[in-house]
Amino acid sequence: MKKNQNEKVNICVIGAGYVGLVSGACFAELGHHVICVDNDPGKIAMLEKGIMPIYEDDLERVVKKNVKAGRLHFSNFIKEGMLHQGRRAEAIFIAVGTPPRDDGSADLSTIEKVSEEIAKNMAGYTVIVEKSTVPVETCDWISKTVKRHNKKGIPFDVASNPEFLREGTAVWDFLKPDRVVAGVSSKEAEAVLKRVYRPMKGAKVLFTSVKSAELIKHASNSFLAAKISFINAVANICEKTGADIEDVAKGMGLDKRIGSSFLKAGIGFGGFCFPKDLEAFYWLSRRKGYDFELLKTVKDINEGQKMWLVKKAEDELWNLEGKTVAMLGLAFKPETDDMRFAPSIDIAREFLKRGAKVRGYDPISQENAKRAIKGIYFAGDPYDCVKGADCICLVTEWKEFAALDMKKVLAAVKHPILIDGRNLFDPAKMRELGWTYTSVGRP
Ligand SMILES: NC(=O)c1ccc[n+]([C@@H]2O[C@H](COP(=O)([O-])OP(=O)(O)OC[C@H]3O[C@@H](n4cnc5c(N)ncnc54)[C@H](O)[C@@H]3O)[C@@H](O)[C@H]2O)c1
Repeated sequence: MKKNQNEKVNICVIGAGYVGLVSGACFAELGHHVICVDNDPGKIAMLEKGIMPIYEDDLERVVKKNVKAGRLHFSNFIKEGMLHQGRRAEAIFIAVGTPPRDDGSADLSTIEKVSEEIAKNMAGYTVIVEKSTVPVETCDWISKTVKRHNKKGIPFDVASNPEFLREGTAVWDFLKPDRVVAGVSSKEAEAVLKRVYRPMKGAKVLFTSVKSAELIKHASNSFLAAKISFINAVANICEKTGADIEDVAKGMGLDKRIGSSFLKAGIGFGGFCFPKDLEAFYWLSRRKGYDFELLKTVKDINEGQKMWLVKKAEDELWNLEGKTVAMLGLAFKPETDDMRFAPSIDIAREFLKRGAKVRGYDPISQENAKRAIKGIYFAGDPYDCVKGADCICLVTEWKEFAALDMKKVLAAVKHPILIDGRNLFDPAKMRELGWTYTSVGRP
C-alpha cells in the first residue's frame, strides 16, 4: 500500500554511538518513531536513566525531549528494535563501528552480523540503510547476506546513507546538513528515505546509485584529510623560509575555488574518521588494481606532523630524558571526549620513549584518555598540569586554554617554553609575557 508522503517513519537505528545515537535522537526530533539498539547493556542502561554515554553538545536535551514525547526508545535487542510496541520498523539504519584491521582495510564483521539478524527478523518490506562509513560495494555484501538468511523471501532493499556529522557539533550538523546523500536502487527505497528526510526543511537530499553514495563518503573524508596535510606541508615550508602560514592560508582560502575551511595548520588530524577512512580507501584502491598513491602521501605527511611537538621540544630542551613535558589537551579535537586515534596518544608515547615525564590534562576527554594513554600523570586542572614543566605542549585547542591566565602559568612552570601545536596563542603577546614561544609555520 502506497504511503502518504508526509507519513512519519518507524525507524530502528542499530548502534547507539556517536553516529547512531545522534541520528536516532535527531530522527525522533523530526517526528519519526525511533528505537536505538545497542548490544552494550551499560550504554542502554545509561540512556534509559537519561545519562548520555558520550559528550556531545545539545544531545542530552534532544534525547530527553524525545523520550518524554514517546518518540525515542532504547533496546539491547535488534528483534525488539524491528518490532516495537506493535510498530514494525520500515527503515533500519546500521550505525555500528567499522574499525581498521591491521592491513588498513575496514573490519566489516559487525555489519555482517547485524545484517544476518535483520534478515531473520524481517516481517514485511524493509529498507536497510547503511550509515556507517564503509568501502564501496559493502551494500552489495549486505544484500547478499540478507538474501541468504531471509528464508521467507521478505522483500527488502539496501540503501546507502553516509553520515557527515562532526563530533562536537553533531546534533547541529545532523539537523542542518550541507547535504544528505542517499544511494538507492529502487523507487520504494527512495520513497521511504524521502519520507525520512522530508521534515528536514530546506535540506538538500542528493539521490544517487548505492555505489556512488558509498564512494562519496570515502572520497569526501580523504579530500578533507588531503587539505589538512597540504596546509601542514606548506607550514613546513613556511618554517624553513620565514613566511607565515596564517597569511598564506588566508590568501589561499579567499579563492572561492579553494575555500578557507580545513586550511588550519597544526599537528595533524586524528579521530575515528579521517585516519581509518583514508587507510580503508587506500586499501580498497589497491585491491581494485589502482594505486591511489596520493592517499598514502596524505597519511605519511600526517604521521610526520604528529611528531612536530616532540621535534620542537627537542629543539628547545636538547635531551628529553628526565625532562617534564606538560600536554595541554588530549582529545583529538575540542568539544569532544573522543580519544580514538587522537594524536596525543602517539605524542605521549614518543615523549615517554625518550625518557620524558609527561603530565596531561583535558577538560572533557580525561577519563577516556586514562584508558588510551598509560604511564603519564593526569592533572586535575591546567595549572596543575603545567606545574614544574620544562616545556608546555599545546595539543588540543580547547577554548579554556585560550582563556588561561598565562602569568599564573608562567609562575608554575620550571622553564617558560611554550610549544603551540594548534596556533592558539598570539606569538607577539606570548613573547611579550616572557615565553619562548614556538608555533606551527609562524615566524
Ligand atoms: N564518529 C564520527 O564522527 C563519525 C562521523 C561519520 C561517520 N562515522 C562512521 O559511523 C560509524 C559508527 O561510528 P561511531 O563513531 O558512532 O562509533 P561508536 O563506536 O561510537 O558506535 C558504534 C556503536 O555500535 C554498537 N554495536 C557494536 N556492535 C553492535 C551490534 N552487534 N549490535 C548493536 N550495536 C552494536 C557499539 O556498542 C557502539 O555503541 C563508523 O563507521 C564511523 O566511521 C563516524
